[in-house]
Amino acid sequence: MSLDATIARPEPDSAMRADALTLTYVSPRSTTYAVREVSLQIGARDFAGIVGPSGSGKSSLLYLMSGLKTATSGEVWFDDFHYSAATPTQKLNFRRRAFGFIFQQPFLVPYLSVLENVLVPIENPAERDQKRALELLEALGIADLAPKFPNECSGGERVRASMARGLVHRPKWLWVDEPTASLDHTTGRMVMDVLKSQKLHGALVVVTHDLEILDDADTVFRMRDGVLLETFAPCATARDEMGIQKPTSTEAALGDAASGLL
Ligand SMILES: Nc1ncnc2c1ncn2[C@@H]1O[C@H](COP(=O)(O)OP(=O)(O)O)[C@@H](O)[C@H]1O
Ligand SMILES: [Mg+2]
Repeated sequence: MSLDATIARPEPDSAMRADALTLTYVSPRSTTYAVREVSLQIGARDFAGIVGPSGSGKSSLLYLMSGLKTATSGEVWFDDFHYSAATPTQKLNFRRRAFGFIFQQPFLVPYLSVLENVLVPIENPAERDQKRALELLEALGIADLAPKFPNECSGGERVRASMARGLVHRPKWLWVDEPTASLDHTTGRMVMDVLKSQKLHGALVVVTHDLEILDDADTVFRMRDGVLLETFAPCATARDEMGIQKPTSTEAALGDAASGLL
């Protein structure tokens, strides 16, 4: 299949593959390996986590996989689309259509309302898009902030607004960096339930130092010093230990907060 054909019609259930991804930062005195020869795969409907201590290369790996940073070496594929070899325009088009991002910093547009910020990924929002945006804000506990502006919201509320923006267009791939870092425990649990609704239409990739929020992830990649140390499945491990059967549907794995978003 040609590159353009892949871009025009991405495979509905493509998987992501990273091959020997490396990112170095070179200064006159030293070379830092932020990510070193990391190879992994994530399925199209997987909830994947990346854990590790601060400075272990989690964010760098997320940015390499999603193409926001260019690898020093290594490749990224989405099914048979060689993403890391695509032109900047091809990458941009693919990202716009297939990706959602939730960063540590919410990056809201200051002169747009919260609702308008959430709708930014959608070119011409229809009424149903507006309805979905409001439902997401509701599930995230900030529906009353819809008409307000970012400077009228707290830091945690802005982060939650950016989560609704990342989910609103039902991206095939949702990349999330430290979603619970600025939230209290209860709110953190609630937003994770909403983020996990992403599994109904695509993959969810979450960077965190808090392994607890990944307890029902399909796969967790543990990083240390830029190296992928181990890959494990907390969900399967916990089930095996407790003798519990695998949930029969994605919905079964979702919490109450997300039930209205199906
Ligand atoms: N712009 C940069 N210049 C130099 N070193 C960097 C830069 N960004 C990140 N690093 C280094 O790369 C390593 C991995 O960083 P990062 O991916 O942010 O880790 P994490 O997200 O796990 O905290 C760290 O040692 C960090 O200091
Ligand atoms: Mg980080």
